Amino acid sequence: MNKCYLPLIEDALERYLPGSDSREKKLIESMRYSLKAGGKRVRPMLVLEFNALCGGKIKRALPFACAVEMVHTYSLIHDDLPCMDDDDLRRGKPSNHKAFGEDTALLAGDALQTLAFEILTRDDTAALTGDTACRKAAATLAKYAGCYGMAGGQMIDLESEQTQASYEVIMELIAKKTACLLQAACELGCIAAGADDKTVRAAGEYGKAIGYAFQIRDDILDCISTDEVLGKPVGSDEANQKSTLVSLLGLEECNRMVDKYTAEAIAALRQFDGDTKTLSRFAVNLARRKK
Ligand code: IPE
Ligand code: IPE
Ligand code: MG
Ligand code: MG
Ligand code: MG
Repeated sequence: MNKCYLPLIEDALERYLPGSDSREKKLIESMRYSLKAGGKRVRPMLVLEFNALCGGKIKRALPFACAVEMVHTYSLIHDDLPCMDDDDLRRGKPSNHKAFGEDTALLAGDALQTLAFEILTRDDTAALTGDTACRKAAATLAKYAGCYGMAGGQMIDLESEQTQASYEVIMELIAKKTACLLQAACELGCIAAGADDKTVRAAGEYGKAIGYAFQIRDDILDCISTDEVLGKPVGSDEANQKSTLVSLLGLEECNRMVDKYTAEAIAALRQFDGDTKTLSRFAVNLARRKK
């Protein structure tokens, strides 16, 4: 992925964070703590790369990139809470609730989510990216993050604890809790560039396929990595008796599935006329990632 994207994303996220000189200081500090803790920024990079592929200007896609990363960070803060996965380490640091308390962590997640939609619907974003693109982006992100998307997937994930869910249920929970937001990122990149619906759908196909590969790789790393490398606790899935594809099919078959979905993602790129080498390489690198 284009290396110049990372500093642009970090700068833009910083700019969108509210100043912390108000009575809400603790809340805003806790939002910043997780947002600026150094995630891989996979989703905002996808927004920017699909925007570039569709001929868009980086500046116009940056608000969309930040919005997706904020929704993602909110999902991680809530995912780590004791009532969810109960994990104390995230992005190499104590989880938000360990640093700020459960009550503040809950609110930081809420406020990051609403900030994302504020950014998508603000006048300055509309002036930069256009009313239609902003409306479509907000509707798309809401759909993929909501009850039939990421939040719904998290629900199915919780309901599949302490029982071995079937292959179909696990695939549905992966599609929803993880692939949906990656799909949203790819689609938002195209939307920022004013691409047509067919192009947006093609980007979504790539996003969904890397989403499957991404979560299966995440479940594999939960078994084979270390806390130090991963920056989050390994063995969390087993401790919570999660239904994962690893628990159902074993590591070898999961590695094969990661390769299969990565190949599917790369095949989806054939629908684009532009240069998709960067996105092909990105899919391969995600499949082989160590963290
Ligand atoms: C972790 O996402 C949650 C999953 C969907 C598996 P990332 O692996 O993208 O986490 P960060 O953003 O790099 O911390
Ligand atoms: C992540 O699934 C799904 C989210 C929507 C946050 P996991 O629970 O496996 O993610 P990690 O391993 O804690 O990052
Ligand atoms: Mg979880
Ligand atoms: Mg988790
Ligand atoms: Mg995991």
